[in-house]
Amino acid sequence: MLVVALLGLAALCAVQVGPQHVNTVDRALAVTPPMGWSSYNSYGRHATAADLEQQATALVTSGMKAAGYTYVNLDGGWDLPTRDAFGRLQPDPRKFPDGIAPVARYVHSLGLKFGIYTGLGTANCAHTGAGSWGHYRQDVRTFASWGVDFVKVDWCAVPRRRFPGMTDAQIAARLYSQFGSALRAAGRPMAYSLSTNHPSLAPWSWAPRVGNMWRTSGDMHDTFAFMRSHFLANVGRYASAGPGTWNDPDMLEVGNGGMTRAEDRANVSLWAEMAAPLIAGNDLTTMSAATRKILANRQVIAVDQDPLGRQGRVVARRAGHWVLSKPLANGACAVVLFNATDRRALIATSTTRVGLQPGGTYLVSNLWTHRATQTSGRFGARVAPHAAVMFRVGGRTPDHFIGLGAAAGS
Ligand code: GAL
Repeated sequence: MLVVALLGLAALCAVQVGPQHVNTVDRALAVTPPMGWSSYNSYGRHATAADLEQQATALVTSGMKAAGYTYVNLDGGWDLPTRDAFGRLQPDPRKFPDGIAPVARYVHSLGLKFGIYTGLGTANCAHTGAGSWGHYRQDVRTFASWGVDFVKVDWCAVPRRRFPGMTDAQIAARLYSQFGSALRAAGRPMAYSLSTNHPSLAPWSWAPRVGNMWRTSGDMHDTFAFMRSHFLANVGRYASAGPGTWNDPDMLEVGNGGMTRAEDRANVSLWAEMAAPLIAGNDLTTMSAATRKILANRQVIAVDQDPLGRQGRVVARRAGHWVLSKPLANGACAVVLFNATDRRALIATSTTRVGLQPGGTYLVSNLWTHRATQTSGRFGARVAPHAAVMFRVGGRTPDHFIGLGAAAGS
């Protein structure tokens, strides 16, 4: 009797305080961090079908696609605040006169993938779009029918009062997991991006079992101060990242004009070192050659996309000078020296500090200048204010380094 009563009580407790989520992540959809372009940082909520098609074309003609950028993501602002008579989301006819499906088809015709945005609550964050509350299954079926490959799901206008006694993190875990279940049932593979843009949601503790990437901070803006703060919010979360599930410090601001070239390079270096999704946010149709070179640096991208899928970690920091190391699949590592201060500085470290075996001679290849030196101990660089220097450290000779396939010297 007692046992039965206890079991009954346990079942009751499970209902009330049981797990807030079920595992819904499909790791195969993001074995390496997703790369692409999103409309938000340059168009805000105003992107149109024509804008998307022009950007998709430019992704190809600029060489960004060849460098690995694959997704063309339509961010918030595409839909009306009300649903149609069948409860379906309605694309804003002024921006998408023929709906979303033809845009997705155009993107696919270029060999690219198409992403879209919705929210868990009753509206998007600007209250100009509907939000998927009460319609998760219906909306993902709609997205699947349009040919969507990637869904970014925001945390806006969530009716929290319906979840008495639950923290934001618990509510988010539950609702994102419900949305994830809907995605898994939709019959089309769609990568799942969680726009968990508030630290109270603590996504690093539950999101790796739910989606492919999750935000670790609020919205990025085009200044060095924002870029630095997003780096700080993301860098300590390395334990949650791995193949299929990534910390997301938000989209890149490279080429948007608010940061210097050195700061733009630091943005890409730090994001690649942290195995972050590389989602460009600039106007690709007017991008300068210098911006293109920064975004499409293949050696830096190879660090981001390294198949080992480890997020780089801080191995030394002092007074705004940072050293990060990211182990790579072939036994080498990628090292970033980041100078967050306003003064030029010599930042130095050693092969053992970045995790390499002592006693070896290593090639230190600068991934921005493409120059290489050798060391069997210390190495470093003079780093300009707000800049990052990025090295690949491994292999004994330049011949070993070329092709990024060499085993590390040991
Ligand atoms: C914010 C989100 C941004 C962008 C915007 C669109 O909540 O953090 O990344 O998606 O909504 O409305």
